[in-house]
Amino acid sequence: MIYLDNSATTKPFPDVVKSYSTVATEFFGNPSSLHSIGGQAEKLLTQARTQIADLLGVKNNEIYFTSGGTEGNNFALKGAAKAYQGRGKHIITTEVEHDSIHKVMEQLQEDGFTITYLPVDKNGLVSVEAITSSIRKDTSIVSIMHVNNEIGSIQPIAEIGSMIKRQKPSVLFHVDGVQGIGKLPIELKKANIDLYTISAHKFHGLKGNGVLYIREGLMLSPLLAGGGQERNYRSGTENVAGAVSTAKALRMQLDNQLYKKDKLVELNRYLRESLAQMEDTVIHSPLEKSIPHIINFSILGVKAEVFVHALEKYNIYLSTTSACSSKSNTVSKTLTSMGVAKDVAESSFRISLHYDNTLEEIKITIDKIADTIKWLRGVMK
Ligand SMILES: Cc1ncc(COP(=O)(O)O)c(C=O)c1O
Repeated sequence: MIYLDNSATTKPFPDVVKSYSTVATEFFGNPSSLHSIGGQAEKLLTQARTQIADLLGVKNNEIYFTSGGTEGNNFALKGAAKAYQGRGKHIITTEVEHDSIHKVMEQLQEDGFTITYLPVDKNGLVSVEAITSSIRKDTSIVSIMHVNNEIGSIQPIAEIGSMIKRQKPSVLFHVDGVQGIGKLPIELKKANIDLYTISAHKFHGLKGNGVLYIREGLMLSPLLAGGGQERNYRSGTENVAGAVSTAKALRMQLDNQLYKKDKLVELNRYLRESLAQMEDTVIHSPLEKSIPHIINFSILGVKAEVFVHALEKYNIYLSTTSACSSKSNTVSKTLTSMGVAKDVAESSFRISLHYDNTLEEIKITIDKIADTIKWLRGVMK
């Protein structure tokens, strides 16, 4: 199998599954229980929180466990919007965010918030000046993704954070870091980030696990009310095995980021050069300011869905656009915002790599892509 859909989800590291299994079976206590079995679970949860805090360079009381990126984004935005509505009901974001941001914005709009959606340029980048000039007296939140899930463009997060700090420090800065973490360095404090979402299954952890960083001193309105776990922010018996396995996955992925990034740059270059040589191929992922993991391209005149299934016959797995929208047949909003024509966007594909993909796999993929194009063009004649 050649799996090239790692922005949709990753295969868990075997050690991560092992640590989940060990904790789930041997340390199954409820961290709130008074007895020693509960105490052991609580200790593991605290350790996992501290490990993640250390890896992210923050304090452990700034780490909150969630069920993943969607919950983290919902919690950050709804929790901050409600708690800080006294500062104003205007929120700034971009046209290219994940649905777990856009759909929340729609809900907030129903609650009387005004949302500014900023476009991106032809490279998928939002302009810092556009954010600056959109900030109003009643702006309370700016939410911008670090890395775009469809084309891999990297938004200037640190620059945006310092601009907000200078211009209107009361504005909260949320970053959807789901596609950025483990791919490129991030310094939450230096970048003046107040809220930061990550999801374990995007870095070889397990689905249903995530983390929301909430800067110390902020008070959000909780999404889930109940027994008061996670310092009253997320009630419900804690998923200790999930938290421990997330800490492990994050450490392993950050090691990969450190030691295997150059190899990925090589694979990306090979892919780009090979795709560029193919007839009627357009590469959408920008050459600069984008991560090497994602390469988004169109093959003109080829129906994306047919192509994905044709490659599957060779045991090669890539995707049409983001996983969530790939079944709904909607045109990529990222490509549309970049000014890509609808028919071109409709025939777009995303290859998303992981650190252990090999050049051999990429060479096979390129060969099979070429064969499939030839075959499809023949069928269409
Ligand atoms: C940028 C981005 N944010 C949020 C999410 C949602 O994460 P999860 O699948 O953990 O809910 C995704 C998932 O694809 C994503 O790519």
